[in-house]
Amino acid sequence: MGDNLKFMLDNDKDSFFIGCEPYINGVANLISKLKENDYNRVKIFVQDVRVLLELIPNNFFSDIIILFPDPWKKRKHKKRRLFNIININLFLNKLKKNGEIYFSTDVEDYFLEVKNFFTNRKKNFSIMNSDNFYKKPSLLYLTKYAKKSLHRGISPMYLVIKKKVDIL
Ligand SMILES: C[S@@+](CC[C@H](N)C(=O)[O-])C[C@H]1O[C@@H](n2cnc3c(N)ncnc32)[C@H](O)[C@@H]1O
Repeated sequence: MGDNLKFMLDNDKDSFFIGCEPYINGVANLISKLKENDYNRVKIFVQDVRVLLELIPNNFFSDIIILFPDPWKKRKHKKRRLFNIININLFLNKLKKNGEIYFSTDVEDYFLEVKNFFTNRKKNFSIMNSDNFYKKPSLLYLTKYAKKSLHRGISPMYLVIKKKVDIL
């Protein structure tokens, strides 16, 4: 719905943003909330993020934010997860040195899979929030899916990862 992107635009007037969402209603919701003076700081890509990432040079983004990607909970569907082992590398190549990835989910095995990926690559990445994975980083908005899971009594988990190297 673009709520997090709008929140970040409002709180950080010096940065430029690209939002990505193939679901047109979500994009329309964001556009309806943008102010005219936001226009020159934001682009919206209305397609699969993997298409966007293929077009972006390496070491480009200061931050990449992936909030509550579809969980694909069934065992046979897990390979469809957006932040899977193949796509993770696509995202990581586009992140600058010292850039950060913010990932959140309310599905424990998804969280652990992603966390383990980075735990096993300590040479290249630091986990920045190991003191409390349940605390929402202040940079982020409490999105619709975060609210939904809290409503169901489930605490969403957040992972903040810093990339320590230029080339992986
Ligand atoms: C469970 S919703 C979470 C929405 C929002 N981030 C939140 O926290 O409320 C997952 C969203 O990811 C989008 N999505 C799924 N696959 C995508 C892809 N390959 N590229 C870009 N967006 C994708 C879906 O259209 C959907 O809006």
